[in-house]
This record gives sequence, C-alpha cells and structure tokens, in this order.
Amino acid sequence: MSDSTNIIESVKEYYGKKLQTSDDLKTGACMTPSKQMTKPMKEALSAVHDEVLSKYYGCGLVIPEKVERACVLDLGSGSGRDCYALSKLVGQEGSVIGLDMTDEQLEVARKYIDYHTQKFGYSVPNVEFVKGYIEKITEAGVKENSIDIIISNCVINLSPDKKAVLREAYKVLKEGGELYFSDVYCDRDLPDSARKHEVLWGECISGALWWEDLLSLAKEVGFSQPRLVTATPVPVERADFKQVLGDARFVSVTYRLFKLPSALQPTRQVIYNGEIPGYEGELKFDHQQTFKNGEAVSVDKEMSTILSVSRFKDEFDFQPVSSGSSCCVPAVEVKIDPFVYMAQLDSKGELLSPACCVSTTDKCC
Ligand SMILES: C[S@@+](CC[C@H](N)C(=O)[O-])C[C@H]1O[C@@H](n2cnc3c(N)ncnc32)[C@H](O)[C@@H]1O
Repeated sequence: MSDSTNIIESVKEYYGKKLQTSDDLKTGACMTPSKQMTKPMKEALSAVHDEVLSKYYGCGLVIPEKVERACVLDLGSGSGRDCYALSKLVGQEGSVIGLDMTDEQLEVARKYIDYHTQKFGYSVPNVEFVKGYIEKITEAGVKENSIDIIISNCVINLSPDKKAVLREAYKVLKEGGELYFSDVYCDRDLPDSARKHEVLWGECISGALWWEDLLSLAKEVGFSQPRLVTATPVPVERADFKQVLGDARFVSVTYRLFKLPSALQPTRQVIYNGEIPGYEGELKFDHQQTFKNGEAVSVDKEMSTILSVSRFKDEFDFQPVSSGSSCCVPAVEVKIDPFVYMAQLDSKGELLSPACCVSTTDKCC
C-alpha cells in the first residue's frame, strides 16, 4: 500500500467486496456516539431503510443545525444513511448529492431513492448519488460555488491526498458555506510501517491524519479555523493491530470549517434569536462557544463573519461592541488538542462512549 492508485483500489475492494455490513468491521473506528441527537434527527434517522443502515460505516454525527432548503453534498456517501436523513431534514426544496467511488455502495444507495421519496411524501426525489472521487469533486460534475453544506462521515482519512479533498471541497462551497465532517485523527504522524497496513487503512486507522495536520491543511486551502464540535475515543483492541500501531491513539472528531470572504467583519456583539427548530434554548456552535437565546455575546472578527455570511445570518442580531471595549475583541484561537479535550470531558464524566454503527436510537446495540 503505497502509491495513491493502490490505496484507492484497495479501499474500493474493502468497501465494495470485503465488508458486507457494519458487523464485519474489525476496529472501533466506525462507531457513532449515541447521544447528542435532537428529535428531528432521531426521526430522520429512524426513517432510513434497514439495508442502508446495515451498511453504515460512519464515525460521527454529521447533521448540522439549520439545514432546511440547503443544498448538501456528502463526500463518500456509502450506502447513503446520512444522505437520506438529510433528504428528510432539508425538505422538498432542498437537495442532497451523495458522492462515492465504489459501485457496490452506490448500488445500495440508489436502490432506495424511490422508497425514501415516498416515505418523506415528496413529489420528486431530492437526493441523487454520483460516482466519483472526493479528490476530484468538480470532475464528478459538482459545480464550483454551488453547495451550502458539505458533510462527510469517516471518509477523508481514507484518501491518499487529503489536501486535494479539502481544496475541492472549498471550491464547490458557496461563500459562507460549511464543511461539517467527522473523521478519525491520530495523536501523532504514523510511521510508514503503520501506514502500509491494508486492513488498518480500510478500517479508517492507518490513513488518519495527525490532528494538527488538519489545522494546517485547512489554513493552506483557505478555510476558517477548524472548530471542534465533539470528540470521542476510537478503540483499537486487537493485539496484532496494536503491535503495528504501537502506542498511537485515535479519536473521532467532528469539525466545522467555513468558506469566508477575505475581508472579515468587525468584532461585534451578537444575540441569538432562538428560532432554529430543535435549538430554541441555545445553539452550541462548537466545543467552546454556545449562544444562549437572547443573550448578547462579544465575538471576534472570524466568528462575526461566520455568523453574518453563513446560513445563520438571519438567526442573530448584530450590534457594535459596547463602548469601553470599543474596537477590540481579541481574536480567539480555537485550536485544541482533541485528546486533551477528551481527557477534560472524561474528568467531568461527560465523555460520550462510542455506540454501535447502526445508530438510530431504537436500533442501537
Ligand atoms: C468508512 S465508509 C463511510 C461511508 C458513509 N459515509 C457512512 O457513514 O456509512 C467510506 C466510504 O468512502 C468511500 N470512499 C473512500 N475513499 C474515497 C475516494 N477517494 N473517493 C470517493 N469515495 C471514497 C468508500 O467507497 C466508502 O463508501
């Protein structure tokens, strides 16, 4: 497993032929934490067809807030679980594109388009599945500046060229658009011996980036700082795998990144109006920023810009920072080591444990 073509072919083989259902997985990478869901999310996920759910290989919850009428792209959509949940949540006026390179995965996903269209009471499908590579999104037919939200669930780690994936994602997002994705990260840059392990690559372990590398890649491509939403441990139990990996540790992290204009908005006070369904009391934007309904919060230029150019712009009142603190809310660095964050959560008894892959509330093991 070294050059890019070998990696791509081996991953296709893994998800097309070797794995039949999530029970065939050999590590805990493809596990989704069981809590955190709003009622509409639970309803959307429990409406997804059982065969689609049985082939779910995600590692996080990639359903962000305020998706109604959005145009969503799922990178590495697999059998389509997240696409179908979002198909319900975006509504008939929204749309969802699932992009994947593996025929067998696309076949299962496409088989249930009519089923979900009927189930959601739509007159025409609002979801389509496209064959292509996440490193070449525009070649697959997705237009530049056309997407409101990109999601991806446990896929970018599988790519031999993560920078190309981020570059293409940035290209197809509209200004103010968001990349909201879950993926596996490592606490170090893995040695070649671990990188070359075919099964561990397929299991979303060997291709995991050192978490700091994601931050640099995102910056190089032009995204806002990656904001950590949640982090959960990824257990690797098998002795033969541990031998290959040494004492490297793994974490599944959900990050949100925005495509912003180059001229940032000034620092401001913002007041959340509490009108996003499911988030009336508060909007927990990332691990350190929660906006409570009606409460004025001073935000730095980057957050001020995110809130005023993204789909959240009508959900906030914007006011100048009160005199006295006049010009300056210092820029907030949101960088945090996800392993440190998990330790903090653990000490407060708030660390979510991974649940099984079929993660609707009633189907969870
Ligand atoms: C771990 S599975 C996750 C599938 C889906 N997101 C889910 O949550 O069930 C990885 C998926 O990404 C796809 N994939 C991996 N690398 C890809 C690439 N370079 N281009 C397109 N699809 C890719 C695989 O075919 C597979 O369906």
